[in-house]
Amino acid sequence: MKTYLVTGGAGFIGSNFILYLMEKYGDSVEVVNVDSLTYAGNLKNLESVEKRSNYHFEKADVCNRSELEELFSKYDVDYVVHFAAESHVDRSIRDPEIFARTNVLGTMNLLDVSKKFWSTEDGFLPGKKYLQVSTDEVYGSLSEEEGYFYETTPLDPHSPYSASKASADFFVKAYMDTYGFPANITRCSNNYGPYQFPEKLIPLMIHNALNGHKLPVYGDGKNVRDWLYVEDHAKAIDLVLREARTGEIYNVGGHNEKKNIEIVTIIIDTLLSVLPEDDNRRKHISYDLITYVEDRKGHDRRYAIAPDKIKKDLSWYPETDFATGIRKTIVWYLDHEEWMKQVTSGEYRNYYETMYHL
Ligand code: NAD
Ligand code: DAU
Repeated sequence: MKTYLVTGGAGFIGSNFILYLMEKYGDSVEVVNVDSLTYAGNLKNLESVEKRSNYHFEKADVCNRSELEELFSKYDVDYVVHFAAESHVDRSIRDPEIFARTNVLGTMNLLDVSKKFWSTEDGFLPGKKYLQVSTDEVYGSLSEEEGYFYETTPLDPHSPYSASKASADFFVKAYMDTYGFPANITRCSNNYGPYQFPEKLIPLMIHNALNGHKLPVYGDGKNVRDWLYVEDHAKAIDLVLREARTGEIYNVGGHNEKKNIEIVTIIIDTLLSVLPEDDNRRKHISYDLITYVEDRKGHDRRYAIAPDKIKKDLSWYPETDFATGIRKTIVWYLDHEEWMKQVTSGEYRNYYETMYHL
């Protein structure tokens, strides 16, 4: 029986990862969800598993060493999966400090506590592993049409968010290189799917379109992102934990590059094809909602992952094609209006108003 300590398990990818583990392994794993519940953390995402005896929620801050030490004393942790982070690029441009605190110092703290509890006289307890959930943004930006990010591509972050994630990766590398600490790093492209907070492109556009609000496209709308369905990411992380050699770094992505404006039009088209003819919300939805707004500062032009290594070593591949994934995602948001109402009340409104002025 493996015990997973999942940080940031109440966020978008973390909660999908926990649901994936519960679905795949049932009662044969223990899951400890460690989350400080920032604006992005939502325990409603985990309602379907919260009563299970093998699921434990612990409200704690990864920057707080004594809280983490208590958790490592309480649970015999086998795997640490570190999702907890400040994850939104636009917020990092406005307020970089919290990104350095959570993403850099939080990671170092978690590494150090894991190292302390897993150390033996001559190395580390067998079967223990730490996985750093990183991002393709640490590699910087590619030219319009050419090239891919490989694991050997030099790190060249541009935003405060990606700088903090690259710093965290370097701390993980330092612990691996200096102490032989058992870890892996995964660097994934843009995720989409259920439970994503509507500050990010896809849920923001779905939410705005359904409410007849403008669809704010940054710059010329031709920046490219490489989209991966979140469950495919969850599967990759678990494979790396269980099967990869420690010390290895894996890129995770689906060769699914799309310009932002294509994503927005696909969302409009899919909403119109999914909503029943007599649904009131249809009347709001049209291409006329698309509004070009001021570009993001330092906006990376294109991300594209080469997932060759994870395919070759671990036989991972993205199972969900984009047409299927976006339809599933849109249907999920249509079926979870209450969830959306809850997360867009309060803090979100202030954020939206100061960010967009629309
Ligand atoms: P998210 O913002 O939805 O969730 C982050 C979670 O971390 C929230 O539940 C929040 O409460 C928690 N958290 C924040 N600060 C914390 C702290 N100090 N202590 C404990 N918990 C804290 O993020 P996400 O989109 O699910 O991303 C998860 C991870 O995956 C991040 O590390 C991100 O960099 C990485 N990543 C995200 C994507 C993507 O497309 N979303 C792609 C590649 C990598
Ligand atoms: O590539 C992986 C990264 O993907 C993760 O590490 C980050 O945590 C995650 O937030 C995401 O970063 P992006 O900046 O690529 O995602 P976002 O959804 O914020 O934006 C996607 C693209 O859409 C980007 O080019 C900016 C653009 N955009 C975004 C928003 C929110 C718009 O044009 N309008 C918008 O309102």
